[in-house]
Formats: sequence, C-alpha cells, structure tokens
Amino acid sequence: MLNSKTHETPPVTSPRASNTPDNVSIKPQRMGFEFGDHIPQYWVGQNYLVSHTWNALSVLFPQGEQFFVDSVRAFRGLLDDSKLKEEVRGFIGQEAMHSLEHIAMNQHVHDQGMPVEDMERDLKVLLDTARRLPKRHQLAVTCALEHVTALLADMLLERDELREDMDKSMRPLWVWHAIEETEHKAVAYDVFQQAGGTYAERTAYLVVSTAFLGLMTTWFAGRMMLNDRKNFSIRSSAKGLWRLWGPKGTFSSLIPAWLEYFKPGFHPWDKDNSELVARFKAEIQQYAAPAYRDGNRRTLQ
Ligand SMILES: [Fe+2]
Ligand SMILES: [Fe+2]
Repeated sequence: MLNSKTHETPPVTSPRASNTPDNVSIKPQRMGFEFGDHIPQYWVGQNYLVSHTWNALSVLFPQGEQFFVDSVRAFRGLLDDSKLKEEVRGFIGQEAMHSLEHIAMNQHVHDQGMPVEDMERDLKVLLDTARRLPKRHQLAVTCALEHVTALLADMLLERDELREDMDKSMRPLWVWHAIEETEHKAVAYDVFQQAGGTYAERTAYLVVSTAFLGLMTTWFAGRMMLNDRKNFSIRSSAKGLWRLWGPKGTFSSLIPAWLEYFKPGFHPWDKDNSELVARFKAEIQQYAAPAYRDGNRRTLQ
C-alpha cells in the first residue's frame, strides 16, 4: 500500500538543466527604434495615468535588466549543460538589447520634461541595496521579476486590445520586448534550480520583489504625473486606474498566473506559449532598423 509519505515525496528524477522548449531560440536582436515627436504623449489608450505608468516601467528596465544579467552571470561558472549555457548567453544579450532600446525611450521621456535622472538615481540606491544580498537571493529576485515580466509579456501578446491600445509608434518596442521576455522566461529560473535554489527562497522573493516593483512603478508614475500636473484629470485618472486594476485590468488579471509560482513544482514553461512567440516574431522583424535587419548577434557580454 502506498503510504501518504509516498504521495508527498516529489519524484526522484534528474531534471533537465534547461526546460526551454526546443522550438524556442534565445537570440538577441538589436532593433534601433526611434523616439520623437511622432509619439503622442499619452501613447497608451490616450490615457494620462496609464501612459505615465508604462513610462515608469520603462525607466525601471535598463538598471533592472543589468541587475538580472549580473545575478545570472554570477552562476555561469557552475553550469555544465551546454544548452543552458547557450541560453544564458542569449539571455544576457537580449537583456542588454532591451536596455539599449529603453535607454533611448527614457531619453525621449526625459525630453518631455520628466525627472528621469532623479528616478534613476533613486532606483540605483534600491538596486545597490539588493546587490548586498547573497548571490543566490539576488538570483531569486531576478527569477521573481522575470516571472512578472513574462506574465505581462504573455498578456500583451495574447490580448489584442491591449496592443491596439498602444499607439502604433510604440507598439513594436513593447511587442519585441514581450517576445524576447517570453523566449528567455525560464533561463534565470533554470539557473536558480541548478544553483540549488529553494522553494522558500523563490517564493519569499516573489512577494518581496513584486511589492518593490509595485511601489517603484507607482512612485515613478506618481512623480511623472506630478511633473505633468497641468494635464491632470480626475476622470482620466480614474479611468486609467480602472484599466489597470479593474476586472480584466492589465495588472489585476495577472494575479492568478502570478500565484502559479507558489506551486511546488512550478516551471515558467508549464504554460507553453511558444506558438504565440513564433507568430509575432515573424511580424516584428520588419520594425528593425535597416542596419540591424539581418540580425545582430553582438551580445555585449
Ligand atoms: Fe528585458
Ligand atoms: Fe527578461
């Protein structure tokens, strides 16, 4: 007879180091997006609050992604699986490209009079503090934030109305970023598993990291709104909050998938959305600047 302990004990198998499906390739692609006067100030749904919120996310990316890269790179030496090693290379290259494009976008946000440098300074203080954590805990932070990013990315690719809400001048940047976030969604996680990361570490840091992400995004969006207070409108802000946090809201609808991370055997590819990636990947290539169209394999490692 099977005793209850047998049911509770996870199967003793030797898990594969990389669990990214074989039809997903993780290769960096420089895009060379241009940001200028052709972009409306309120480029998401013509909404003041929602646009400032997405701008706030963009301000978080360059330094945040550098943190992700550093935390994964710290464990590179212990990997012996060639597929996972190759994926780490791709992950580092992709995040480096995202940083470059978001630095360009953030310059545009700065040129609109937003206090980007002040926000970046404050973000640096927070990330410098996080860098004092043990290396594996830093990697747990990265896994957690990659989970949130992957959920946002999946939703953006899945829900047509969300993409259509974005002005077409900005849409390719976010679709491209969403594609690559999906492609490499399990890399940090697989490295964390190889590094002996525990369930307690990853789940605790999901809670903490999501809280800080929420605080920083809200704070930065609030600062931009304060800076742009001449255009403040209660009606538009209330509508924006509803779009983010109401039923089917951009952020509220991520909650069930966010909770999946607490399942003991969770893996980012439990939801296989590689078909979605393949579909958008074919479309996005045309938005790369001519110089980068044939692919850019520089990975800035
Ligand atoms: Fe990224
Ligand atoms: Fe990422």
